[in-house]
Amino acid sequence: MLNTTLSSLSCPRRKKGSHACGGALALETKGICEKIEISPLPEVFEVRSGTLQCTHCQAKYPILGGVAVVVENVRQYLVEHVKGISKLVSEDELPKEFRKDFSEAIEEIQTEHIEEDLEADRVNALYLMTHYLNTAGSQKGIAWWAPESGEGSPLIASLVKQHWDQGPFAQIKKWVGELASKKTELNAVELGCGVGGLFPVLRAHLKSYLGVDSSFASIALARHIALGFAYEGEIKVPEDLLKGSVSRKVQLAKVSYKEVCKEGSVDFVVGDFEHPPLQKGRWNLSIALNAIDMLDRPEVLPRLQCDLLNAEGIAIQSCPYIWHEAVSRKLRARLPKGIVTSSKAVEWLYTQVGFEIEKSVEHVPWLFFKHVRQLEIYSVHMFQGRRS
Ligand SMILES: C[S@@+](CC[C@H](N)C(=O)[O-])C[C@H]1O[C@@H](n2cnc3c(N)ncnc32)[C@H](O)[C@@H]1O
Ligand SMILES: [Zn+2]
Repeated sequence: MLNTTLSSLSCPRRKKGSHACGGALALETKGICEKIEISPLPEVFEVRSGTLQCTHCQAKYPILGGVAVVVENVRQYLVEHVKGISKLVSEDELPKEFRKDFSEAIEEIQTEHIEEDLEADRVNALYLMTHYLNTAGSQKGIAWWAPESGEGSPLIASLVKQHWDQGPFAQIKKWVGELASKKTELNAVELGCGVGGLFPVLRAHLKSYLGVDSSFASIALARHIALGFAYEGEIKVPEDLLKGSVSRKVQLAKVSYKEVCKEGSVDFVVGDFEHPPLQKGRWNLSIALNAIDMLDRPEVLPRLQCDLLNAEGIAIQSCPYIWHEAVSRKLRARLPKGIVTSSKAVEWLYTQVGFEIEKSVEHVPWLFFKHVRQLEIYSVHMFQGRRS
């Protein structure tokens, strides 16, 4: 985590009832184990290992392998996300009080395949492909969608070539480009940023960017690939599953943190939408791509996007709306008559917290390359709303 990110964060510890503490966080300087100087003016440095402490309630949040874990319940988070954390962080880097629970959780790690396990290598590899691979300038001339040996599927090759580069990132780049041409400075917060590939796409249009996600593995990858910080693992994506779930090494563009982070205006941290570690009213652009259908209470996301924005701030949301049945049932019960589609339902949720929908597009293609014999196609709804 960069020292300069502190001013955007606030303490997510829940006080009596449901209110978050909201206190400012400070670096516990005696706890800094590893610090990397990035630039002298403004003074920017990366803390690889240390502790953040709330200046109000004294709650502590660890920084592990450069990833600040700013969640309401640190012990529970470490146990529930043990799969991603244990691959990148050794037990003795954890605060002492959590080591016992953590090592017990390591014993229980499940290796079976769960599509929604955002700490699993394979799931992160799929997102990494959608975020960082393209077909236009395919990586060093390698057609990553074709098998390394044997014939590839002509259908998969043709769908990838036709639609891969036209996904949500292409649409959002256009919208943010239009905003940047009108506003001088865009300060963006991305909720559910995953492995962080949107930042490099938007970088030229932004003054500052902060990505937040609950997945430790995704944030560590984002900080490595988009910012250039060290990473213990290897970057591999699926090919022929006979060789393993992720077997193809990919070369991604090398990024230098000395260059990308020199102003101290970009970072990625671990946090949760339910108890966000973020200062309110600080941004004028808030982005949440493909996350609302993962929430038990989808209405939390528009409320959060609204709270983080200043007056006239812009929210961008996209989703293929793969609802869990219990969530859609509750949502249906709240909707006014006449709203019968997911896209209208979510636009309505945003208008309820004061957004005016300015732009909306349907059926943006979003492709997931599962392996050389499986391609998944989602159809995404995207909109841009302005906070009134
Ligand atoms: C479907 S993925 C989309 C990732 C990325 N935005 C994209 O479009 O490729 C949803 C992301 O939201 C994150 N997420 C889900 N629930 C969350 C929560 N309650 N708090 C923070 N992040 C959450 C997941 O970890 C995951 O990275
Ligand atoms: Zn606090």
